[in-house]
Amino acid sequence: MGILEGKRILVTGVLTDASIAFSVAKLAQEEGATVVLTGFGRLSLVERIAKRLPSPAPVLELDVQNNEHLDTLAARVGEHVEGLDGVVHSIGFAPQTALGGNFLNTSWEDVATALQISTYSYKSLAVACLPLMKEGGAVVGLDFDASKAWPVYDWMGVAKAGLESCNRYLARDLGKHNIRVNLVAAGPLRTMAAKSIPGFKEFEDSWPERAPLGWDLADTLPTARACVALMSDWFPATTGEIVHVDGGAHAIGG
Ligand SMILES: NC(=O)c1ccc[n+]([C@@H]2O[C@H](COP(=O)([O-])OP(=O)(O)OC[C@H]3O[C@@H](n4cnc5c(N)ncnc54)[C@H](O)[C@@H]3O)[C@@H](O)[C@H]2O)c1
Repeated sequence: MGILEGKRILVTGVLTDASIAFSVAKLAQEEGATVVLTGFGRLSLVERIAKRLPSPAPVLELDVQNNEHLDTLAARVGEHVEGLDGVVHSIGFAPQTALGGNFLNTSWEDVATALQISTYSYKSLAVACLPLMKEGGAVVGLDFDASKAWPVYDWMGVAKAGLESCNRYLARDLGKHNIRVNLVAAGPLRTMAAKSIPGFKEFEDSWPERAPLGWDLADTLPTARACVALMSDWFPATTGEIVHVDGGAHAIGG
């Protein structure tokens, strides 16, 4: 019996089969969950990728900048599952001007886009799913360690710092609904989002050396395992937490 047996999980953020969300959805199904996916923009691509999962999973459209998509999400998810036990936020975006060393010149409009999609949407998604989580459950988001200023990560780093704070406030406000809210801070992984960061190679070169356990830039499974574990019954008293899945690099200086 899998650790998500009988659980119903909404997974956002599948774009390619390299997406962290794809790995989470696959593992969740392998662990016994019923999975519903949301996709953004290129829905036919997401539907094609979804066919590679062990079981078919419906794909619903969700642009987190679209209030109608958010307002109707619970009803649309409700056509496939009666409730939700877990929600995965695997969404991030920043305009090119907000990344790659342009920190001092980025306009507010571009910063606002990064913050709305990468930070505020964590709250929007959790609130949109609340009507389906009457028995409690778990919300999990994907983080990149925001305790330091990194090369090239720029306003996405600020967005992730906001996400870490948002995680604590959501934990505070959703605890009374018996909903746990936690982040998984992953090391660098070669996904579409990562490829769109100019200078991402700087992380690729240094991370595997810094991490005491080493780090495989192409392996999303350790990150997916942490997400699945946090949605299981094995973390019943953990909320507002950040679990680092980075080979241990966050603990090492230099
Ligand atoms: N790849 C890494 O190195 C790494 C490391 C730590 C954390 N993360 C985080 O993991 C999460 C998933 O990213 P990934 O690396 O799997 O890349 P990815 O490109 O596969 O996934 C990013 C997802 O965000 C979605 N998205 C963008 N704008 C959206 C919008 N307006 N509405 C809804 N969805 C939207 C995209 O469609 C895509 O599915 C992100 O939060 C990212 O910051 C990534």
